[in-house]
Amino acid sequence: MKILVVGNGGREHALVWKLSKSAHVEKVYCAPGNAGTAADGENVPIPATEIGPLRTFAKENNIDLTVVGPEVPLVDGIVDDFKSAGLRIFGPSQKAAQLEGSKVFAKDIMRRAGIPTADYRAFSRVEEAATWIDSLEEGPLVVKADGLAAGKGVVMCNSRGEAIEAAREMLQHGQFGDAGREIIVEDVLVGQETSILAIVDRDTIIPLATSQDHKRAHDGDQGPNTGGMGAYSPAPIVTDEMMDEIIRRILVPTVHEMKVQDCAFSGILYAGLMLTQQGPRVLEFNVRFGDPEAQPVLMRLKSDLAQVLSLAADGRLAEMESLEWDPRPAVCVVMASDGYPGDYKKGHLISGLRDADRLPDTKVFHAGTIQKEDTVLNSGGRVLGVTAMGDNIRSAKEAAYAATEKIHWDRCWKRHDISDKVSQSQSAD
Ligand code: AMP
Ligand code: GLY
Repeated sequence: MKILVVGNGGREHALVWKLSKSAHVEKVYCAPGNAGTAADGENVPIPATEIGPLRTFAKENNIDLTVVGPEVPLVDGIVDDFKSAGLRIFGPSQKAAQLEGSKVFAKDIMRRAGIPTADYRAFSRVEEAATWIDSLEEGPLVVKADGLAAGKGVVMCNSRGEAIEAAREMLQHGQFGDAGREIIVEDVLVGQETSILAIVDRDTIIPLATSQDHKRAHDGDQGPNTGGMGAYSPAPIVTDEMMDEIIRRILVPTVHEMKVQDCAFSGILYAGLMLTQQGPRVLEFNVRFGDPEAQPVLMRLKSDLAQVLSLAADGRLAEMESLEWDPRPAVCVVMASDGYPGDYKKGHLISGLRDADRLPDTKVFHAGTIQKEDTVLNSGGRVLGVTAMGDNIRSAKEAAYAATEKIHWDRCWKRHDISDKVSQSQSAD
């Protein structure tokens, strides 16, 4: 089988690496890929958003399965496009991808299906938003742009005044362009955050191993939000009973309501949750693997990923009984360019990659890297996702950090406390 992975981040490198291990897979291409996907597969110089050229490549090279990493091509309709050309592709249709592409759409699905989430109102006129916000009791609120805003479209507000200002920035001043033409204003939820992902095809739901991301830039969950500075799997905060409740009250009704609304879901359903005192509440849905959550999760997956994703793409996921996981935890530490998530310098030589990769149960997933002759340079904010497994979370963390010590480039940095939340909660038990 020949596979095309679309994207160029750490998640896509993890997908390429895992898919290439399948006995059924003869070749994995990645478009456009990075230095890591070039080593574990073959890069194709087509950007992830160029649906037409990607389709032509898939046709001309007899690609048997395309797997899409990022949300933008999914929201832009790559799955519908490939399917009409007779190509097999894993992911949601454009209509179903609105679950991530439009927060108003997602909230509407949740409201119709009675799925627990923060109370909210949607607005497209700033005057209406301001009148409503003014009618509330003073307190914190969350204002969200409806569309995709590269993870920046959520503003946490401490007061009604701040919320009105955030609404004005989006609706009147075009802060997020078209993505902010409509907004959601919602209550603040308090608790621990976690994400639950499942492989779905219309009505079969197979949950993936649990994982937890670290979104803030600095240790102790301080500093600005990022795409994710590290992740670990499993996330012991999600107990078996809680997982049952999440499946029953969130995943099943979501998948059912999507069918009722004539946009049956197929692909990865990613529920971002707040575990509140009153139970789990949905913060957002995504329609793809998380990055960097995919790195530790896919490292622990023992089942054949190519087989599972092919069955899901064919609507035959029910034939798959369950997924098999390595019981050992995995930790992924993101190494980033100094300045990220703001400006940073590119083009520094990265050393020590081979030494790190040679360590047992360790894999260096590339994100913002490019190959130049026989050297690797940083080309993005999040550069590497150094991932390792261990007998327990502490040894997985130690192994991942030991591997990061082998790697260097001018002004690289990382958080030092990835997975400490688990150790802290376990030592408190
Ligand atoms: P979203 O893209 O909707 O998941 O929002 C990004 C981040 O903002 C989440 O991961 C949370 O940390 C935070 N957030 C979003 N909505 C809420 C809410 N209603 N209450 C508290 N935090 C929120
Ligand atoms: N790590 C968060 C995301 O992939 O959306």
